[in-house]
Amino acid sequence: MNLKSLVAAIAAGQLAAAQELMRFGCSQLTIDRIDPLVNPGSLPSPHMHQLIGGNSLNASMKPVDYDPSAESTCTSCTYSEDFSNYWTANAYFRAKNGSFKRVPQVANLGLGVQGGVTVYYIRGYQSSARVTAFPKGFRMLVGDPANRDPKKVPSGLCFRCEANMQQTPFGGAPCTGSDTKYFPKSTCGGGWRVTVTFPSCWDGKNTDSPDHKSHIAYPASGTFESGGACPASHPVKIPQVMYEVMFDTRQFNNKADWPTDGTQPFYWSHGDNTGYGIHGDYLFGWKGDALQRAMDTKCSGDRCAALQRQTDAKAIACTKSQLAKEEIGDKWLPNLPGAPEIF
Ligand SMILES: *[C@@H]1O[C@H](CO)[C@@H](O)[C@H](O)[C@H]1NC(C)=O
Ligand SMILES: *[C@@H]1O[C@H](CO)[C@@H](O)[C@H](O)[C@H]1NC(C)=O
Repeated sequence: MNLKSLVAAIAAGQLAAAQELMRFGCSQLTIDRIDPLVNPGSLPSPHMHQLIGGNSLNASMKPVDYDPSAESTCTSCTYSEDFSNYWTANAYFRAKNGSFKRVPQVANLGLGVQGGVTVYYIRGYQSSARVTAFPKGFRMLVGDPANRDPKKVPSGLCFRCEANMQQTPFGGAPCTGSDTKYFPKSTCGGGWRVTVTFPSCWDGKNTDSPDHKSHIAYPASGTFESGGACPASHPVKIPQVMYEVMFDTRQFNNKADWPTDGTQPFYWSHGDNTGYGIHGDYLFGWKGDALQRAMDTKCSGDRCAALQRQTDAKAIACTKSQLAKEEIGDKWLPNLPGAPEIF
């Protein structure tokens, strides 16, 4: 399918059918300064995240030995065999007096969860190709919180300034049209949709790597969506994982509260007011072969005969108390949590 017909399919509400993609809501599990992938054991870790998924989430989760599907007693995802953990940075608004307040996160349209993230597992357009589910212990990272260079933002990570909460006009496929690599520079009547897309090829051996990236790769040519083949170094096609995170920026839409010199007032929790430090973390935790079944039977949307699904209310009820106890910024704070260097 080419981009034009993809956009048409989205407009007709047929995206899931067109792409054989799972798209489901996961409610917020916690907002916490932990990062079991990049800073295992650090309590607190350097910056704040919203985390979703299995409630066995902890500051340290030993690869392979620690199986989230065995350790968790609930998941905030509506597919109830998915105990994976997914997390992204929080965003903050900096007032003229230097104080910070957290930008609330909300559920995507049509998904009954609270805050959280919309998670996608995309098979791609070549529906005949085998897509291999992640093995136990698999984890990965995309993007880099220390990055401030627009050229180093991987494709598939972007911001959309929504005109209204109904998200109309829809605006086409992720990271097309007027979507940006940087924080929107004007007020947005419907907040932001932030897209974080992971690479779709794997070396077939390592469940992780020192930079949490080298074991995964982008297709050798073209894109996963266009059926691009994986490179010889990373020959195994894996599901393309994508997050959509909705930020409700509307309480910060009074331009009189914005710096008069044009400085961007929004910051990632890691002290970045460019947006280029956009990143996402993934820690696999599906039960048994559930994800492989989902790939093999081409599950779409958030209901599939091959998978168990819990009610939205049960997903919402799965929460975890904060491990690194501190204010998250629902009231004005003098600094970002952890006071990361601002650059
Ligand atoms: C989380 O990790 C801490 C310290 O590593 C440990 O004491 C605690 O038992 C762990 N919690 C769970 C639920 O595994
Ligand atoms: C800073 O500015 C915000 C927004 O105008 C205001 O609500 C808050 O009380 C101020 N904080 C201080 C310490 O002045």
